[in-house]
Amino acid sequence: MKINKRIILLSLIVLFGAIQLIRPERNQQTNPSRYDIFHKTDTDPLVIAQVQSACYDCHSNRTAYPWYASVAPVSWMISQHVKDGKKHLNFSEWILYPQDRQAHKLDEIIEVLQQDEMPPKPYQWLHKESVMKPESRQLVLSWASKLKSDLSNSNQ
Ligand code: HEC
Repeated sequence: MKINKRIILLSLIVLFGAIQLIRPERNQQTNPSRYDIFHKTDTDPLVIAQVQSACYDCHSNRTAYPWYASVAPVSWMISQHVKDGKKHLNFSEWILYPQDRQAHKLDEIIEVLQQDEMPPKPYQWLHKESVMKPESRQLVLSWASKLKSDLSNSNQ
């Protein structure tokens, strides 16, 4: 009985070691993107800082990885989140989006912020700096609405 437990424990340790060899590719573009939503902008620096700290880990080409992001299987989960997040919305490639897509994404951004759906709750628990105070949320919301109305005006 005792031996069996040891064998199981040992196998688990070996397995844990083995999965560390599978390392997902990191999302770390080094140069700032020319197509970033905040490239050459006169946006309020507070809005930029808030959006970058709350959204950019999953919605840009550059993730700031915490130490535990190097440990499988957490690394695999994070990699999947980033892939999924970028597919829905990538602030680093914003300027490449057609205008109707930008307009639609702005509506979605406003919606997820109003309903506190983003950043996802577990992320907020781990990243206190991503939690928005009501004033910051209001600032980001007005910024998004303004961008949206600028877009509609430029279409007329
Ligand atoms: C921990 C990763 C993560 C962070 C941080 C994050 N998101 Fe997301 N976001 C996702 C993922 C994954 C999806 C796609 C799946 C889903 O809708 O849950 C998504 C989807 C979205 C969508 C599309 C919703 C839809 O209906 O398709 C919007 C808009 C969005 N996020 C905005 C934001 C904003 C704004 C922030 C910052 C305030 C943010 N996200 C922070 C992971 C993240």
